[in-house]
Amino acid sequence: MPNLYKKPFIIANWKMNHGFESTDIWLDKFFRAFYSNREKFDNLTFVICPATILLDYIDSEVMDEGLEQLEDIIAKRKQTLSRLTDEEIDKILIEEKIIKIGGQDCHYELSGSFTGNTSLLNLKEVGCEFVIIGHSERREFNAEGNQIIAKKLNLAISQKFMPILCIGENLAVRNKKEHINFVQEQLKEALAMLDSNQSFELLIAYEPIWSIGSGNVPTILEIKEISDAIIATINELKSQNKIANNANVSVLYGGSVNSKNSASILAIDNIDGLLIGKASLEADEFVEIALSYQSSAK
Ligand code: PGA
Repeated sequence: MPNLYKKPFIIANWKMNHGFESTDIWLDKFFRAFYSNREKFDNLTFVICPATILLDYIDSEVMDEGLEQLEDIIAKRKQTLSRLTDEEIDKILIEEKIIKIGGQDCHYELSGSFTGNTSLLNLKEVGCEFVIIGHSERREFNAEGNQIIAKKLNLAISQKFMPILCIGENLAVRNKKEHINFVQEQLKEALAMLDSNQSFELLIAYEPIWSIGSGNVPTILEIKEISDAIIATINELKSQNKIANNANVSVLYGGSVNSKNSASILAIDNIDGLLIGKASLEADEFVEIALSYQSSAK
């Protein structure tokens, strides 16, 4: 299955932060930094996962920004504006969004009596292409287990989303040296509802719980050990015909990423992007992280 997006993925997870006013400031700074470094960002995909209530607003701001750049965009694609229909222009603006939009969670049903939850259909309507599934904060504070996560993942894939599946061990598991097994089991259980006929694209974010928001980052070797184990598990599931052979899977890292440690993490082979919490709340720092990719020498 072809990968629709350029790697690496630089993904902001704002969690429950930012209001409309600070979102405006963030977007302004981001757009400015984006255009002054444009050619450096030709080969990566930016994604922003804000609070649900901000999604629609952010998407229309990003679309408006694209509209302002329409002539440049069309020229870059070697097309002629006058020959394009409104529908074609809309499609181009969506494809060329300088930052893609993602939800932080979704429900495992498309609609129904689920007060307070968010449907993938609504996420689609407000321009989301990505959705985070199984973040450790959802697992901990909303009692989400692997079975629910498997249902969400299955639905997100069938609705043609790019899911960002989060997995990772806590400190007790790591201290017992059971982290590899633990992460592999989490992954297998999350993928348990898929079958070999369903081709899909998936981002798997390895986010050790002890690293999230703590400033403690695993060593490069520790991250590599897990990303290799994730890829091995995916290959094993493919060879057992449990998932599609042409499934396109990329591994990301998340947990206390900042512009000082990002280059060395992005340089790890098998790591195709970053899921960034705290450091993504400042647009300048978020862009610095993306710029550090240039020095990751990959
Ligand atoms: P952090 O969060 O970057 O603040 O550690 C990452 C995450 O929870 O996705």
